[in-house]
Amino acid sequence: MFMNFRRIHKCQCVQLLTTGLILCVVMVCWEELDHHVVSHMRSYTYRYLVNSYDFLNSSFAITSNHHNREDGSDGEDSELVNYAYLINHPGKCGGAGADGKSWDDVLLLLFVKSSPENFERRQAIRDTWGNESFVWSKLGASVRLVFALGVHPDAEQRSRVQSALLQEDQAYGDLIQQNFLDTFHNLTTKLILQFHWGHEYCPQAHFLMSADDDIFVHMPNLVKYLRELLSTKTGARNLWVGHVHRGAPPVRRKKSKYHVPDDLYPWPSYPDYTAGAGYVVSGDVAAKIYHATLVLNSSIYIDDVFMGICAKAMGVSPQEHVYFSGEGKAPYHPCIYDHMITSHGHAKDVRSLWQAATDPTVHSHSRGFMGSLYCTAVRVMMLCLPYYQNTYSCMAAFT
Ligand SMILES: *[C@@H]1O[C@H](CO)[C@@H](O)[C@H](O)[C@H]1NC(C)=O
Ligand SMILES: *[C@@H]1O[C@H](CO)[C@@H](O)[C@H](O)[C@H]1NC(C)=O
Ligand SMILES: *[C@@H]1O[C@H](CO)[C@@H](O)[C@H](O)[C@H]1NC(C)=O
Ligand SMILES: *[C@@H]1O[C@H](CO)[C@@H](O)[C@H](O)[C@H]1NC(C)=O
Repeated sequence: MFMNFRRIHKCQCVQLLTTGLILCVVMVCWEELDHHVVSHMRSYTYRYLVNSYDFLNSSFAITSNHHNREDGSDGEDSELVNYAYLINHPGKCGGAGADGKSWDDVLLLLFVKSSPENFERRQAIRDTWGNESFVWSKLGASVRLVFALGVHPDAEQRSRVQSALLQEDQAYGDLIQQNFLDTFHNLTTKLILQFHWGHEYCPQAHFLMSADDDIFVHMPNLVKYLRELLSTKTGARNLWVGHVHRGAPPVRRKKSKYHVPDDLYPWPSYPDYTAGAGYVVSGDVAAKIYHATLVLNSSIYIDDVFMGICAKAMGVSPQEHVYFSGEGKAPYHPCIYDHMITSHGHAKDVRSLWQAATDPTVHSHSRGFMGSLYCTAVRVMMLCLPYYQNTYSCMAAFT
């Protein structure tokens, strides 16, 4: 014991030095750490230990007494404005009731958030995964595709782009446009457009999907999944599915696109929400979100977060599906096509991916015991190794 004394002393010295060094490094890197680690730690603590978000109902309630959004007459507060439709298709989902026509049986109302100038992206979607008649003739499912738009933000280009939009709509009849500027900070307005339009013109749809115009949706897989949900005992109720962000902290760096100041959202953590790139809600949830948008303050301009706030206030929680992508592009491989639902970041390659992913030979790779073993191995290689691309979580490899 006595003999070891010097050694212990030496150890303590080393310990002390190391601690000092670490402290120095921490202090030097504090700002970086504050953004990336501390804010996440704070937000996870909040999400997993406090996790009540009780403030939402009262803090986001519209304070003024005239909170009837549908009544367009009282538009004093900007949050309460009901923007006029510039292009609309009230009959898209069947009879609006007036002439006794009944609603069509719609499995999925598909809302693609687009911008006025993205003509090519919309065309690629119509030609591939958004092709209603393909889905009807090949899959026997009734889908309605519409694009949600505002007006071009640049006043000089607006009239040119607008007349091109009117022509495009003459040809395809699938644009839904309201009179607000189509900007990043108006995305929440676009979200509200979708749920209000769905409530008014397509309330019978079993599901509503909201998607970016640069994603790829594997329609056959999605339709199969939605049908399975419908055939369960309880039917498809209380469903909000996608790539879930849990305990995400608000971004406080002023330079970031997603910056949210303290006075707009003072709490350390957002309620859970799904990535806006693509998610699906069941009809009952769509109705709940619609009602939430009537009574909650929509000044928070990150649409995914606003959706999370609406859902939390209505007691709806998002649910994870490993084959809904958040940011990344799915690896190109038949063993992935077999399961994928959405993949993000496609503009140029939508057509070739659609060809490859819906090829009937895709399933032959995973057939049988050896096939499924092979595909699991391939997916582990592509999803679980850190240096390879990262769209779906490693868990997706084992489904
Ligand atoms: C907010 O109010 C709704 C009912 O209006 C309730 O279902 C929900 O649980 C409340 N949320 C919170 C966080 O208290
Ligand atoms: C909504 O919230 C913003 C920012 O917190 C606030 O300035 C605005 O007055 C609120 N609007 C209503 C109608 O409560
Ligand atoms: C949509 O699908 C139908 C049926 O498969 C097909 O005949 C049509 O050519 C497709 N439309 C486009 C624009 O690709
Ligand atoms: C959103 O659209 C409205 C109506 O056109 C416009 O007044 C407002 O400036 C836009 N907001 C942003 C942040 O672009």
